[in-house]
Amino acid sequence: MSRWDFPAPFDRFLGVGLGVDVHNEQPDWREVLTQGLPADFLEVYTRGEVAQAHAVRAAADLPLLYHDDALDPILPEGIRPHELKLAVDNLGAVGAPWCVSELATRRLGERYLDFFLPIVLSEEAAQVAARNLAELDQALPGRIVAENPPYQLPVGPLHVLELMARVHELAGIPLVLDLGHLYSFQLCRGLDPLSGLDDFPLEAIVELHVAGAVIDERRAAPIYQDAHGAAEIPPVLYEMLAEVAPRCPELRVVTIEVEDADLARVTRQLEDTRAALGSLSA
Ligand SMILES: [Fe+2]
Repeated sequence: MSRWDFPAPFDRFLGVGLGVDVHNEQPDWREVLTQGLPADFLEVYTRGEVAQAHAVRAAADLPLLYHDDALDPILPEGIRPHELKLAVDNLGAVGAPWCVSELATRRLGERYLDFFLPIVLSEEAAQVAARNLAELDQALPGRIVAENPPYQLPVGPLHVLELMARVHELAGIPLVLDLGHLYSFQLCRGLDPLSGLDDFPLEAIVELHVAGAVIDERRAAPIYQDAHGAAEIPPVLYEMLAEVAPRCPELRVVTIEVEDADLARVTRQLEDTRAALGSLSA
């Protein structure tokens, strides 16, 4: 029996899809749909605009997932009611079985930063996040799925995989493993790309992410700059994907985050991701 109870076609491995921001000029989500790209689903980020969520649902024949960056599930003050309502409305409009939320915030008090502050890597922070995520899991018309954020300066004693495992254990929710974000953490700590994975509850992972990035190696410690579609996917991420995907028994989707990519790059990244997955994507 499956660990996670999702409706078809998410009840088994579905394939490779694209993460798109509906407000981006490229790739224009309408073009992604009309060009007939070999994507098995779309993961949409609507910036909370429910009209856009309805528009995508009405236009797309593909299955949809929903990504929400405004929930800030790591903050001790809890989920803000307005952001919760937007997530409920958007997830319902998209008709997705789950909502992806990163363990990060873009807020400093009342100030909005367009920069991810990732979760502090401590037991206390894991407990705060688990509490918030359990609340979201109850309130949303689908599951909440927590994603590991990118790091340039990790703070706290835990490995990010230890923290993710703890959040999963406390909140009982599924996880997204973003391979680029994981690699960003390993670079900071001087670890191998898949360090820590052997002790990780891989059955928690329902979704894997890959995305373009620039790795700045001018300093002693390389810095991973998450660029999504504005850069190529580093080859090490395809190697990580080929290694990790077959080890995740409950994997349902692999998402390529392609915001800001032109259609030629989107097409190439789809081909390369499928090649890395081998027989799994067939
Ligand atoms: Fe991601």
